[in-house]
Parts: sequence; C-alpha cells; structure tokens
Amino acid sequence: MSKKDGQPIRVALLGCGTVGSEVARLLTEQAGELAARAGAPVEIVGIAVRRPDKHPELPQDLLTSDAASLVVSENVDVIVELVGGIEPVREWLLAGLKAGKSVVTANKALLADHSAELFEAADASGVDLYFEASVAGAIPLLRPLRESLAGDRITRVMGIVNGTTNFILSAMDETGAGYSETLDEASRLGYAEADPTADVDGYDAASKAAILASLSFHTRVTASDVHREGIADVTASDISAARLLGRAVKLLAICERVRDDNGVESVSVRVHPVMIPLSHQLARVNGAFNAVYVEADAAGELMFYGQGAGGAPTASAVLGDLVAVARNMVGGGRGPRESAHAALPVRPMGQTPTRYHVSLDVADIAGVLAQVAQVFADHGVSIAAVRQRDRHSTASLVVITHLAPDAALQSTVDEIAKLDVVHEVVSVMRVEGED
Ligand code: HSE
Repeated sequence: MSKKDGQPIRVALLGCGTVGSEVARLLTEQAGELAARAGAPVEIVGIAVRRPDKHPELPQDLLTSDAASLVVSENVDVIVELVGGIEPVREWLLAGLKAGKSVVTANKALLADHSAELFEAADASGVDLYFEASVAGAIPLLRPLRESLAGDRITRVMGIVNGTTNFILSAMDETGAGYSETLDEASRLGYAEADPTADVDGYDAASKAAILASLSFHTRVTASDVHREGIADVTASDISAARLLGRAVKLLAICERVRDDNGVESVSVRVHPVMIPLSHQLARVNGAFNAVYVEADAAGELMFYGQGAGGAPTASAVLGDLVAVARNMVGGGRGPRESAHAALPVRPMGQTPTRYHVSLDVADIAGVLAQVAQVFADHGVSIAAVRQRDRHSTASLVVITHLAPDAALQSTVDEIAKLDVVHEVVSVMRVEGED
C-alpha cells in the first residue's frame, strides 16, 4: 500500500508492556523527527492490550482488548506486534497481512517457526514484514544480514544472544559460585524471569539461532532444527577448568555452513555452552550484553555488540523497522522478502564437527594416559593437546581434541567414564573459537 506525501502512517500497537510503552513514548516524543525521516507522520491509531482498565497511563480512546478486529481495521496501515508467543498472535498477524497491513514484530518464537507462512502472506498482499527486534534487541543485526551482506556469502554466525544466561555465566566466573545459587541471585536482581526456563534451557537462543541461520544461509531453519543445550549443567568446576586453560564459558548460538568430504553443503545450527579463548572477542562480553560474530567470504570477520533486551533498546529496533516500513509506503517500494532459495539441508548434531575439552581425575599409575588415549583413537578422535597435573595419588588430566563428529566425541567420553582408572569426569565441554 503506498501513501501520498503527508498522509499519516497509521499504526496499530499490539501489546503495551515494557517494550510497547517505550515504542509509544518515543513515537509521541519524537513525532516531528520521525515524520521528517519517514516522509510522513507516524501515528498510533489503536493499542490492543488484554486489560485496558490496567492502563490508565495510555490515551483511553486508543485502547481496545479486541486485537483481532484492530489488525484488520480499515484505519490501520502497519501492525506493531509486541505481545509474544505463537497463538493467537500468529492468527492476528496472518489476518492483518492478508488485509494488506505491513507487520513489524519482535516475536522470535513466531518467526523461528512460522516465518514461511508469514512471508507468503506478506508477498500475496505486497506488504512488508520486519523483525529486527526479534534477535539481540537493539543491535542492528538482521538488517546487515538481510541487506548489507546480501552480496556476500556468509559462512558462520556465532553469538551470545541471551542476556540472562550470559549474566549468570559471567557471575559464576566472577564469584566461583555454582549455577543454582547464581540463578537465585540473578532472579533477585531482576536479571532472570520468575520462570527462567526459556532462557536457561536455551529455547530463547534456539529461536534466535533459527532466525539467524535462515537469513544468513538463505535456507528455512526452524527452532526444531536447532540442537539445544542450556546452562543448567554448567558447574563451578567447568568454569574453573576453563579459567585454568585461559578460556571462558559462554552459551553460544552457532550457525555454520559446512561442506562434507564429497563437497555437499549443509547447515549446522546449535545452541550449547562452549569454552572460548579469553583472547576471543566473545569471551570479553560480560553481564547481560549480547554480541554476534559474523564471518563472510568477502567481508571477513564482523562483530556486533550491544544491549539485547530492555524496553528502550528493543524499542529502538522496532522504531527503525517502523521508519523503514513508512519510507517504503511513502516511496512505493517494499523491503526485502524471504530468501530461502539455497534450501540447504540441516546437518544432525551427531555429524557436526566439534572439538571437546575433557577434564578427568585419574589414578596416577603407569599406563593410564595410554588407556585414555586409546579410547580416543578407537573412536577416530585425534587429540590436539594433553595436560597433566599431579595431586598425591591421583592426577588431573585435561585433553583437548581436534575436530571430530560430535557423536564420536560423545561416545569417547561415555567410554572413558567407564574406565577403572578414571575416578571422575570433572568437566566436558565443547571448544570454539580456535580453528
Ligand atoms: N530473555 C532474553 C534474554 C531477552 O535474556 O536475552 C529477550 O530476547
């Protein structure tokens, strides 16, 4: 839908919580500036919230609890969705797109699982679908992937995309405390939700990884394609083992374009804790901050850093999208469509090449190192480095491997744990950022 110069762009806001209220505030306070940038005034014409009586601070004439009617109203040009979750939001946005409304959303779970049908509906109506705020809050990341790097070939995207887990891991590293007590402290300080499952079990990061991989590799990747492990099993021993080796533990979303021995390409998308060298830029990202590292053939290495959550930072990304939609309406064009032409297969985690760090307490007697090394050899896993430290009658043995299929590494660790000479498997973690 195009707009004549000066005609307002009419916005329906769905949800008015932490981010929505900041979007409403900034749209009001910066109305003149935004109109100048967009080429037309951008005005909120309706706000859908579950309980209008709970929002005395908002203009009462704009409030409704009937989102389903608002999204198809003739008076609306753009829907800004900040409710979250899949249903009924999916239904609302599909109805809005079919009715010719452009959509700006921060909804990572919806985009991760339903982007194909949302893009199809947007195409059928010739309208826009923007979702910069769905990954890494304020950080301009999806637009660089979709537009700035559209002429390049992205090979890897690796990042800290969940602030809650990064806050917890950073605090564990700083204090030496265990996971449970650090999670309690993060909840007390307001850094973790009352129900932290989506963050600590990696669901939030997995949705974001699916979006990043889809855009980077021009391939549809959904959250169920993403191998996911959270941080609940990370121990104080893992963190101190990492420290001893000059590494930090981070929960990373890793999206890679991989090629097998026959030259067949696929994508690997995973979320799990890793050890990365302290010299790597991602190791220095602490607290609730997000950072994403991108590798592309021509561009080389790029790094994006900033606030991944919060009202005003997320509203910044939403408003950037809103101005883009408004400009497209005024200029008569459209933003980028779905790009899924590569349609690469997703490689199962077991076949994905990874590297492991394994830290063991073993008996300090002749032949132990040979026994342990034999198990690695039996599974075709090549050892990159071994360190041993004596501790009276036991020894601490640290093994770092070369790249091997993840399933081979898992079976190696399972078998090593059963050796009589192994007293304890102290820490097992994948290693990234060194190849
Ligand atoms: N819960 C997310 C985080 C923010 O902790 O980073 C929203 O994606």
